[in-house]
Amino acid sequence: MTKNTLCRFSLSMSSGLVDQLDGMCKAKGYASRSQAVADMVRSHLVEHRALSMAREIAGNVTLVYDHHKRNIQAMLTRLQHDHGGCIIATMHVHLDHHNCMEVIAVRGKAGEVRHLVDRLIAVKGVKHGKLTVTTTGTEFKS
Ligand code: NI
Repeated sequence: MTKNTLCRFSLSMSSGLVDQLDGMCKAKGYASRSQAVADMVRSHLVEHRALSMAREIAGNVTLVYDHHKRNIQAMLTRLQHDHGGCIIATMHVHLDHHNCMEVIAVRGKAGEVRHLVDRLIAVKGVKHGKLTVTTTGTEFKS
């Protein structure tokens, strides 16, 4: 469990980089550099931990495809039924006459989630697919 006591440490980087950091903090509305840097650290930790196949992750998969393509919906449905343990919810949006967007909320061991996502994205006719990984929330106190 991550401790929640405040730890002060100093960082050294070029003044040009600090200027850009400050510019970004202002643009995004951060109250302090520390808050922005802590967000960056958590973001990288989430990505790093998701590489470990046994870790529990949460996330969502977005798929865009043409539903007129032969067998595509049957294939996507079959894969989702086969990996039902990883899937929390699915939202289907009809983008236009041809294109559908499916947003699938996933949770499970990183290896199992990636296995499912790789197969969904590889289905013939999927125009774009992307997994966004986040934390299940238990690793960070704040
Ligand atoms: Ni649709």
